[in-house]
Amino acid sequence: MCGIVGAVAQRNVVPILLEGLQRLEYRGYDSAGLVVINNAELLRVRSTGRVRDLSEKSADTKGQIGIAHTRWATHGAPSERNAHPHLSRDLIAVVHNGIIENYELLRSRLIAAGYEFTSDTDTEVITHLVHSYYSQGMSLLAATQAAIVELVGAFAIGVVAADNPDQLICARRGSPLLLGVGIEEHFIASDVSALLPVTRRVVYLEEGDVVQVERLSYQIFDASGNPVQRAVQTSEMSNESVSLGNYRHYMQKEIHEQPQALADTLEVACHGHSLSTGLFGADAAAVFAEVDSVLILACGTSYHAGLVARYWLEEIAGIACTVEVASEYRYRTSVANPRALVVVISQSGETADTQAALNHAKSLGHIHTLAICNVAESALVRLCKLRFLTRAGPEIGVASTKAFTTQLVALFLLTLVLAKQRGRLSAEQEQQHLQSLRHLPLATQHVLTLEPLIATLAEQFANKHHALFLGRGMHYPIALEGALKLKEISYIHAEAYPAGELKHGPLALVDSDMPVISVAPNDALLEKLKSNLQEVRARGGELYVFADADTHIAASEGIHVLQMAEHAGYLSPILHTIPLQLLAYYVALQKGTDVDKPRNLAKSVTVE
Ligand code: G6P
Repeated sequence: MCGIVGAVAQRNVVPILLEGLQRLEYRGYDSAGLVVINNAELLRVRSTGRVRDLSEKSADTKGQIGIAHTRWATHGAPSERNAHPHLSRDLIAVVHNGIIENYELLRSRLIAAGYEFTSDTDTEVITHLVHSYYSQGMSLLAATQAAIVELVGAFAIGVVAADNPDQLICARRGSPLLLGVGIEEHFIASDVSALLPVTRRVVYLEEGDVVQVERLSYQIFDASGNPVQRAVQTSEMSNESVSLGNYRHYMQKEIHEQPQALADTLEVACHGHSLSTGLFGADAAAVFAEVDSVLILACGTSYHAGLVARYWLEEIAGIACTVEVASEYRYRTSVANPRALVVVISQSGETADTQAALNHAKSLGHIHTLAICNVAESALVRLCKLRFLTRAGPEIGVASTKAFTTQLVALFLLTLVLAKQRGRLSAEQEQQHLQSLRHLPLATQHVLTLEPLIATLAEQFANKHHALFLGRGMHYPIALEGALKLKEISYIHAEAYPAGELKHGPLALVDSDMPVISVAPNDALLEKLKSNLQEVRARGGELYVFADADTHIAASEGIHVLQMAEHAGYLSPILHTIPLQLLAYYVALQKGTDVDKPRNLAKSVTVE
């Protein structure tokens, strides 16, 4: 949700800023802009196009210090006047990620003080606030510190002043920001991928940190204004992991990375002969011994992973589980059970609603917390007592793919560990599950071979406006995920239903224009599902069935069958997800949408 890059160097920083923005575009892409200082002047370039357009517009812009921003609009439409950086009286420039909740109050005060606002953003109040202190003679650092004291809400900011070409000030509270340490040059960025071409040495800033960044040095101050040291870490992220390689889109690349991502995530768990509770953290054994239920909180695709886990946890581990959309849970009056294990699931670890839901759970007395997350340094991981890091690698496509399947693996491991602890898993069953898990990357590879068939199938969806997805049992959440993928990237309206619910309403929608996509594993509900499919066929609905090889569902008029391998038992939801990801991808290609950056969306939603 908005990406920030900044640099202080001896060379022209514009190419560094642009490259960084390009890599952060997944965080927002409504507009982009940069500012550099040149001859005591702020040179600003902004564009409502993508970073590519900004590059063209800034071809002649040069400077050795600058800040840049790619935006996902919250306050104010995605227009050039609302694009960052925002300026105050041509002296101060600010880029901002987050939301300033008290901006209206501050705005009125600043207007009364004579400041002219040229945008509809909440960010502009920060710019004028810093200016109001700086123009009183404070240093840029002190002016920024004074300004942020007045801010309510979440922010990561970068600040420069036209008459101070040696310093860049940055600060964070509630939104991510890190410092990049180069050789005689320094950088700031929302995430490390932006800086990989220039450095891998980074300092992850803590809540409330303010940093005075210069070319040869930097000084960090904590929330109370005291100088602090923070460790410099070397990021393990490789440049290759964030580049497109031979793929057409990141989404396609990430779908294909799933066998490796699953293998990497399983590596720590499956290399021994038995599962260790320690996979979830040093305190996991003690915490798991205390818990009597599980409460899962998440958003979007991560929420769907939680829904699948509920089936596993209750059936295999015999532990009660509830799953809630984080944005609802945080405002609901719920009855807390302090013995519940609160599990937050998030690819990014920075989703505002999930963080708020976790904090809400804690305020209700929950003490047992576990984060399942793909970003080790993220806020959610830091806020939880226990953690499991999925090893999906950076996920750039806005529509989540490999993060989802690795989350499922993490949740299956959690299920097994809890089942073992609760005496519900024999040594033999444990070995069987471990064996299936070890086979999973290969099985995933096999599903990917369906890609050409799915690409052909997708042609039939190009002119459709609606689609229904059906699943039963633990494959119902997979139907939900399939529908979400299709709507996110192809803009086709898609709904998912548990197949047994069809006759209670959605069947009224079925006609020859409504493709019905069904997940058909060979499980205990297969015969029931077959009856539901007949109900669709009898109404002229066109069926697309993703069926396990042993289901014996045959293709016939109006029934297109895509044969999967034989039923994979409990891990079947993971395998059945992949064709639906591919289907959404190829339908989006047919429709010519911007697959990796679907309209109106962003990858990390750090606002409510
Ligand atoms: C956004 C993304 C989704 C993602 C959701 C939750 O809406 O577009 O793909 O599932 O946020 O993100 P998280 O990082 O918490 O998993």
